[in-house]
Amino acid sequence: MISRRAALAALAAIPAIGLAETLRPSLTNDGPSLRALAGSRGIAFGAATANFELRQRDFTFALLRDCGIIVPEYELKRDLTEPVQGQIDFSATDALLDFARRHGLLIRGHTLVWYASNPPWLEPAVAAAPDERIFTDYVRAAMRHYAGRMHSWDVVNEAIQPQDGRADALRDSFWLRKFGPSYIDTAFLAARDADPSALLVYNDYGLEEEGAIHDQRRRAVLKLLEGMIARGVPVGALGLQGHLAAFTRKVDQRKLEAFLNEVRATGLRILITEHDVDDGGGPVDFITRDRAVADATRRFLDVALDNRSTMALLTWGLSDRFLKPESMREQLLRGTPRSLPLDAALQTTPMRAAIADALRNARPR
Ligand code: XIL
Repeated sequence: MISRRAALAALAAIPAIGLAETLRPSLTNDGPSLRALAGSRGIAFGAATANFELRQRDFTFALLRDCGIIVPEYELKRDLTEPVQGQIDFSATDALLDFARRHGLLIRGHTLVWYASNPPWLEPAVAAAPDERIFTDYVRAAMRHYAGRMHSWDVVNEAIQPQDGRADALRDSFWLRKFGPSYIDTAFLAARDADPSALLVYNDYGLEEEGAIHDQRRRAVLKLLEGMIARGVPVGALGLQGHLAAFTRKVDQRKLEAFLNEVRATGLRILITEHDVDDGGGPVDFITRDRAVADATRRFLDVALDNRSTMALLTWGLSDRFLKPESMREQLLRGTPRSLPLDAALQTTPMRAAIADALRNARPR
């Protein structure tokens, strides 16, 4: 019988690409690659990807053309790294790291302490745990395994949720219920201990748009970060996920600018970690949808890249090819969602042009 580890490694193996094929032109039919444009401004551009995506050669070429950094969309979440308690396996991310190394890409770590994408055993185990080692041991294992090799790490993900009704707006997660608010500091301290040189990121969503809930989220995140800095907790950057919606919500440029200025004033860096634009609620006609998606990206990036603390921009996936319609009805009416720089056929979308323009306008840092 083949071992679980060997099976995972086989699953993770990405086909090799020949030397000639690895030449990465910085010019495309649509002008400079996003990687080159971003690089000229001192910004890293890239996308989330996964081993199964990189088994499609046409996609891999497109990714190598535009990306200078990748992040695993699935492989480094605890449901996949530790499906059985105590049996930690990083081989799927190792394969991505190897791909990144062979092609001169940077790679980020996502994510260590989150309330979601966990194995089913974790929540009851946390409730019953004698102490914090249930997450500090995991943080240390991952950070030591990749010490010196990750561009940055999302240590704690999505710890804010004002709707949960707490005065500090912290999410009422199983982490918080067991350990109280200090679990966040503890995770960052364990991370620094395991890899002292790593850039440690607090990553969250819902910080870009209009509305009272976004106001509350911005306030809460700022307070959380300022508190951590005051306590000497080694947080190095804010990860702004950048999940937008073209037809149902709107970027608040003024409030986003003020918020990012405050983040910059704390001395933290800013990374845009998961940008995409949900085209739900739009018309069937994709030309209109594409325009609205590109407009949302532009409204967002004109502000977010104007801040000179913003050092990276990653989209959550590079091509619509791997997105799933929400329902059969959606599939029949509208087809694959259009949310990313390349469509399902790997043709550039107006969103990619919007990213290119925003990068061109960004001041060098
Ligand atoms: C999502 C993936 O895209 C999904 O396919 C997966 O099932 C769940 O996670 N915030 C994050 C990301 O930090 O990890 C999430 O990714 C999207 C929201």
